[in-house]
Amino acid sequence: PIDPKDIKKIILIGCGSAYHSCVTAKYWFEELTNIPIEIDIASEFRYRKIKLNKKNLYVFVSQSGETADTFAALDLCKKNKVKTCSIVNVVESSIARSSDFVLPIHAGPEIGVASTKAFIGQMLVLYILGIKISEVRKEISKLDYEKKINDLKKLPDLIKETLNYCQDYTPIIAKDFLNAKGAMFLGRGLSFPIALEGALKLKELSYLHAEGYAAGEMKHGPLALIEEGLPVVILAPKDRYFEKTISNMQEVIARGGKVILITNENNKIISENVRFTLEIPMTDDHLTPFLMTIPLQLLAYHVASLKNYDIDKPRNLAKSVTVE
Ligand code: M6R
Repeated sequence: PIDPKDIKKIILIGCGSAYHSCVTAKYWFEELTNIPIEIDIASEFRYRKIKLNKKNLYVFVSQSGETADTFAALDLCKKNKVKTCSIVNVVESSIARSSDFVLPIHAGPEIGVASTKAFIGQMLVLYILGIKISEVRKEISKLDYEKKINDLKKLPDLIKETLNYCQDYTPIIAKDFLNAKGAMFLGRGLSFPIALEGALKLKELSYLHAEGYAAGEMKHGPLALIEEGLPVVILAPKDRYFEKTISNMQEVIARGGKVILITNENNKIISENVRFTLEIPMTDDHLTPFLMTIPLQLLAYHVASLKNYDIDKPRNLAKSVTVE
């Protein structure tokens, strides 16, 4: 048994989109608990000289449960007899079978190579794990805990609403990406991992060079990439980072970037130079990543569809990466 009260550190490990869900969880866990959190890419974790510790919890995230690097990282932990937990979609998978504890995401079979519902499912299980650990360790008040559960219950309706709304606009926005040299996704805080995921989805499906950055990193290099007409997706929910992200957006606009702004409804940012604004519903700040993901997945879908690419089976990729 793993008692959350005894955990000294949590290390979250995965590849690709599963890794991005770990990055999101790092932000949640750090806000919800007092436990130090680390994240790692499985192919890096498995080869580094890591000091494994029996007081730590090692969490492995994988849709397929068969990813070679994630499995090898887990195997290393097993051999060193440290505590392991896996978050998988396929419960009869090797990763699920080898870990001490399994949290299934129950998203149903995912056919397309690009992780979509599994990514949302991974984030969901990680978020619930975060609030649960916090509750058991008494690091969240009863009132806040109950509020978080109530907000979670409202999430399916908000996702439906976001899906319906974005379905109308993303095919139009996608046209701007057709002749683009590349694209950029920027966000801060919880929107940073979603920017990484949005870029991954776009490159995977549309074969367009796309990068996600922490918006605060712009001045440290990526700003040099901004030129007339470059599509830049700005993730700026009305959270504590809002003003800062908007100021990064202005820097992009000043250099001719074509801004697609994703923010919250009732948010009056009027900038004539923003090409498109998508307004997602207001919710608990912690739940915004779920809603932010929807337009980004749809965008990748529509760009690929306009290019007549095979959306379920993008070139050079396999659903389950069982070799290094
Ligand atoms: O099955 P896994 O979740 O372990 O797969 C990890 C990555 O290969 C996977 O998320 C990949 O990045 C997706 N194709 C992204 O859409």
